[in-house]
Amino acid sequence: MTNSILIPHLADAMVRVTEVAAIAAETMVGRGDEKAADAAAVDAMRSAFNAVEFQGRVVIGEGERDEAPMLYIGEEVGTGTGPEIDIALDPLEGTTLTAKAMANALAVLAIAPRGGLLYAPDTYMDKIAIGPGYPDGIIDLDASAGDNITAMAKAKGVAVSDMTACVLDRPRHAEIIDSLRAVGARIALISAGDVAGVINTTNPATGVDLYVGRGGAPEGVLAAAALKCVGGQMQARLHFRNDVERKRADRTGITDYDKKYDLSEMASTETVFCATGVTKGGLVDGVERGDGYINTETLLMSSADGMVRRIKTVHRV
Ligand code: FBP
Repeated sequence: MTNSILIPHLADAMVRVTEVAAIAAETMVGRGDEKAADAAAVDAMRSAFNAVEFQGRVVIGEGERDEAPMLYIGEEVGTGTGPEIDIALDPLEGTTLTAKAMANALAVLAIAPRGGLLYAPDTYMDKIAIGPGYPDGIIDLDASAGDNITAMAKAKGVAVSDMTACVLDRPRHAEIIDSLRAVGARIALISAGDVAGVINTTNPATGVDLYVGRGGAPEGVLAAAALKCVGGQMQARLHFRNDVERKRADRTGITDYDKKYDLSEMASTETVFCATGVTKGGLVDGVERGDGYINTETLLMSSADGMVRRIKTVHRV
């Protein structure tokens, strides 16, 4: 039993929210239109949120109010009664993956009691993450990727050549890739989707030991919420390309631009994390349509009891 305020009341409702977002996004798979795919997911997710009895507030969303018509940062969703909940969301994590009918697109969200998630601006973030089972403090964002994975191999009692790091395939990661190659580690390069990249470190079946590199800050908070549920370690630092991005941080109340965040600062309280597959992927299956039904698969995790559920739903149409 748990005295959690998020479970079971809201967890089931959140599954429904990512399911409908994924189903809507799937209609745009392979259509080459990233914006339309994202819009379909956003629209469906917002409607589903508004049927939930809670006072939801978007803290990680589609952008700032003047840029995003729906699910913008600060938008209130839900019926307006019930628990006060902060929401980090990405209705479509992998817009390009969806537009190009590639694997691993997800509809994702995390919830926490008010103030439980870092109010990260929409900028880049440098991230390093590992799954459970390692000594505390074994990774350091400021050490080289090669040194980090070497320390992990030592702790695990295996050769570095048996370790795999997941890295977004971007020119900006050349130094990280060189550093990993220099120590002989394997590298799993991904074209997009670093929320799944981080979560894969928690599942030995994926073979991924370490996630490292620069991606979106919103995705960083979502990944931290997921790790909070199953254990693991993560460090991150915001990366700003210009003053416009620094101003975004100012508006979220961030004063130290160089702060190194720990997992517990990005997801500081009880958290529920939910991801439904849009296209088939390593984490979950994608949406499948049949005659009169739609199948979805959702990963639901909760920090209150460490519960991990895979929910396969048959939706009648
Ligand atoms: P989409 O914008 O296509 O949904 O991609 C999401 C994502 O791959 C994140 O997972 C990642 O954090 C970020 O984009 C990386 O950004 P960039 O593509 O600019 O390197």
